[in-house]
Amino acid sequence: MELIPNQRHLFDIPDDVAYLNVATMGPLPLAASAAGQRGLARKLRPWTIPDTDFFTDTQRLRPLLAQLVGADEAGIAFVPSASYGLAVAAQNVPVARGQKILLLADQFPSNVFTWIDLAARTGAEIKTVGSKGNQTLSDALIEAIGPDTGIVACPQVRWTDGAKIDLVTVGARCCEVGAALVLDLTQSCGAMRFDVSEVQPDFLVAAGYKWMLGPYATAFLYAAPHRRTGRPLEQNWINREGAADFSRLIDYNDAFAPGAERYDMGERSNFALLPALEAAVRQILDWGIDRIEATLAHQNRALADALLELGLGVMLETERGPHYLGARLPANAPSDLTARLKAENIYVSKRGDRLRITPHLFTSENDIARFLEALRKHIG
Ligand SMILES: Cc1ncc(COP(=O)(O)O)c(C=O)c1O
Repeated sequence: MELIPNQRHLFDIPDDVAYLNVATMGPLPLAASAAGQRGLARKLRPWTIPDTDFFTDTQRLRPLLAQLVGADEAGIAFVPSASYGLAVAAQNVPVARGQKILLLADQFPSNVFTWIDLAARTGAEIKTVGSKGNQTLSDALIEAIGPDTGIVACPQVRWTDGAKIDLVTVGARCCEVGAALVLDLTQSCGAMRFDVSEVQPDFLVAAGYKWMLGPYATAFLYAAPHRRTGRPLEQNWINREGAADFSRLIDYNDAFAPGAERYDMGERSNFALLPALEAAVRQILDWGIDRIEATLAHQNRALADALLELGLGVMLETERGPHYLGARLPANAPSDLTARLKAENIYVSKRGDRLRITPHLFTSENDIARFLEALRKHIG
């Protein structure tokens, strides 16, 4: 596959900034920022905003979001955060007293608290899965799924260390035992291939501000066809049939619009954020997720080798997300390493004992050389 050449010119990243921290927050492409500013400016003159604008941005965006995960557009809903989407899922997947809700060890808190709360309300039990010995995290999860499993809630890659989960096998196993599958793709959507038809999740969510390169407070939810008649978190006006006819809203037609639109949040038609998200998603689809994945895999392969030489522990490529490096720091690493790197305009993050290094298509060879040089200085 042809790799994507460096795309720094599409971002506002100065030459002397090594931004290796997309896992915390992806930078907006310049085009997305411009689209967002044009969108926000519409409200300087509200009288120029036609009623149809409450519907057109979301109509254009729904099929684009669907494309990111191989879904049909009727399965997509607009939500403000991963946690909101997870709350919708928790409200609509059945679980019985005594059944297990399977989570990964060290999973992201939004995707843990949601299930602790559901377990407390239903009498279900949380079971946290970690890997033992040489077993991969993915194999440990697959092994843990059994007849007593009610729900599996997991990501495609774990946010701390990038450990990859074989979701095709997890999906098949959930199907065998009749468990619901809820996915948080926040740390992979936009950078790693995923297809709902291969995994068959009940629900999936992804926040838009990381690998989708969108603005903060944008996210989407996908609901499987058999989960599109559930109960939304809130009762609003815009996700109802006939909502476009403003003069008839006081007829209180409570029938929902078809598909997953019933789960759309209130004020989903965000005039500033949605155009920016649309531009970012169009850029990602333009590059192509397969090519993004292959290019980041290529970049990170070389970087992983260099990190190993410096004594950092890096997971095998077969066991991690190709776009994601969570390197275990050696014992002599200073506790303020990320602050020291930041002082040199090098941005990475630390989660647990892992240094999270997540470059993207804007990362230059100079960025990587400066990062490795700085690591050599601080822990070499
Ligand atoms: C795996 C994962 N899920 C979700 C989020 C964000 O969650 P929310 O949109 O609920 O703030 C993050 C942020 O770091 C994350 O790493």
